[in-house]
Amino acid sequence: MSKERLPRDLGEMLVKADSGLTKQVDITKVGRGAFNTKGASWLNSVVREFITGEYHPRKNAVDPFAGQGDMLILCESEFGMETSGFDIQDDLGWEVNDSLESIPRSVGAICITNPPYLAKYSAKRKSMWPMVGHYYEGSGRSDLYEIALDRCLESFDHIVAIIPETFLHSKYPKERCQRIVILEENPFEDTTFPVCVTCWVPEIGQDPTIYVADKKIMQFSKMIEIKGDVTRSNRIVFNDPDGNVGLKAVDGTRPDDRIRFIPGDEFDYPRSSIKESSRLMTYLDIPELDSRMKISKFCGRANEILESYRDRSEDIILSGFKGNNKEGRRRRRLDYRLGRKVILEALGVSVQTTLDLE
Ligand SMILES: C[S@@+](CC[C@H](N)C(=O)[O-])C[C@H]1O[C@@H](n2cnc3c(N)ncnc32)[C@H](O)[C@@H]1O
Repeated sequence: MSKERLPRDLGEMLVKADSGLTKQVDITKVGRGAFNTKGASWLNSVVREFITGEYHPRKNAVDPFAGQGDMLILCESEFGMETSGFDIQDDLGWEVNDSLESIPRSVGAICITNPPYLAKYSAKRKSMWPMVGHYYEGSGRSDLYEIALDRCLESFDHIVAIIPETFLHSKYPKERCQRIVILEENPFEDTTFPVCVTCWVPEIGQDPTIYVADKKIMQFSKMIEIKGDVTRSNRIVFNDPDGNVGLKAVDGTRPDDRIRFIPGDEFDYPRSSIKESSRLMTYLDIPELDSRMKISKFCGRANEILESYRDRSEDIILSGFKGNNKEGRRRRRLDYRLGRKVILEALGVSVQTTLDLE
């Protein structure tokens, strides 16, 4: 157990490594992932059914990262549960505990939490390393929320945890995860980070069911099958400033501004901005597309294939991107692995079977 009262220090976060541009961040808030849950959007019918069906209501709920306690307050009012919590900050009224180190066991209790999130690379970039670096060391994990899940799974049989939506596409073991609910309505008061609610049980061998809000989409294993496994191909060069095809790999805020392939000479993005690390806007070189006609046909076909994947998977095979569009739908990003698969299919290469295309 450790006690702390950290000053609200402002730190410098490196925004652009090449130019050395920095902006000020609240070190304590970011380092402790102190973005509190507000409202009840996380407790939709799917999560409610898990809590009442898998777990007997009217027992105990514990939040090991309790913050302002909003999730626990909802458990009291909705299920009449007894509640308790821990937090590393000593001014919140909870028992002080470092729950990224270990969580006291409370027999039969369900864990209801929204732990801190912080990617290891961000911790380094945001000068948080002195505060949180020791948690990652030796853990084999790359985000604080994964370390938090490890501790929760050690101490509880049943867990409901709000975590980043990137969990869906991460390597974090899912054998105890029974359902994953992608929330499109933002449950936080001060950040629009894409998140999901995960529900965990004691029995291993689970194949989580994925939902978007209340709607059941598919099993996790089906999503993995759809994403497929595509090996690198020398028919495509990504991030080539002289490439003949443009790729806008992220949805815009206007609903019609979707991820798409665009003939290179029609893509309004400066070729000089392309770097090896470009992930949102880029140019690709596909040498076999050696006429304007072929490039244009290819873009049409690739966009059709991508839209078909999006439609049939309700977008879950794409990564979430910060903020929603103007219609309240989650913006999405196409990672280059899946992008390569779409491109190869549009070129007529037979890749591992995925969704049936009409
Ligand atoms: C994202 S907030 C969530 C608060 C609450 N669960 C909610 O949803 O409103 C995370 C909380 O975890 C606390 N925290 C961060 N690191 C911690 C640690 N190592 N042990 C215990 N609590 C920690 C922060 O102080 C913060 O209050």
